Amino acid sequence: MQPRPVVLDVDPGIDDALAILLALASPEIELRAVTVTGGNCPLAEGVRNGLDVLALGGGAHVPLAAGVALPIIRPPFTAPETHGATGLGYAKLPPSPAAPIAEHGVDRLINEIMATPGEVTLVAVAPLTNVALAIRKEPRIVQAVREVIVMGGAVRADGNTTPLAEFNVYVDPHAAHVVLHSGIPQLTIIPWDITINVRITQTHVDRLLALGGPIPAFIAEAVRFYLEFHEAHFGFAACSINDPAALALAFLPDLAQTTPIYMDVEINSETTMGKTVGDFLHLTQRPPNVRLVTAFDNERFVELFLERMEKLTRNS
Ligand code: RIB
Ligand code: CA
Repeated sequence: MQPRPVVLDVDPGIDDALAILLALASPEIELRAVTVTGGNCPLAEGVRNGLDVLALGGGAHVPLAAGVALPIIRPPFTAPETHGATGLGYAKLPPSPAAPIAEHGVDRLINEIMATPGEVTLVAVAPLTNVALAIRKEPRIVQAVREVIVMGGAVRADGNTTPLAEFNVYVDPHAAHVVLHSGIPQLTIIPWDITINVRITQTHVDRLLALGGPIPAFIAEAVRFYLEFHEAHFGFAACSINDPAALALAFLPDLAQTTPIYMDVEINSETTMGKTVGDFLHLTQRPPNVRLVTAFDNERFVELFLERMEKLTRNS
């Protein structure tokens, strides 16, 4: 079967890094480009991290483009408490020989999608600033993109950044609003409701460490910080690998159960800013604009993730 062309929009970030490695480890994916925005860490660090993780996974040849640094309207908001000062926890990586391409990330998104209409799946696991501005700059991508898969929102769960809002949507709720109301025909949302439960533990990390090599060593040091954060903030001895779960939907959609639903996002009130709302009872009588993931095969995915990391390690 032909690999699925994917563009991955990230704010690397520990779980973004795992999503990049999973993309490189999955023959079902043709990783055409990585675009970066500010989020877990400032744009410059995210670009550095993205390049270094691509090189670690044997993907130094994959074009990486720096996108928009700051949210469209909201002030800058990063997550050093979650991803560490560098954005990759305790991990230290050798610098990649590659540099970001000269093309802006928004233009790369547009050009990748428009080059092969109907083929590219955009997996967006960061604040949606790049995606929203790409839509505004070239509205034709709405119909030309094959599917957009977004990790974001907290619909029937508490937020992870405010009591109501999930990080990616909270950082740039106006970008999320643009994307939700853009008319993208195939817009899949996997929210924090689901990904909080997609977890790896120290036992899983030890399984990878047993193989030795730089990839398990990186994962162990990045995840060590992430585990400490989740234990301290959420009280569980594991960490939620949100972004690789979103990426997997590009080639294993049957990991998820989805429901078509009308979804909106709060952009006016400071108290509820970034809250994503799902109209499960059709009370607004507005047509569905997203396919919301309502269930996910956590166990099957975690095993797949570990097997792919083992294979990437053995082949590197
Ligand atoms: O809320 C989790 C999401 O926000 C993940 O994509 C994480 O990397 C951060 O960007
Ligand atoms: Ca992310």
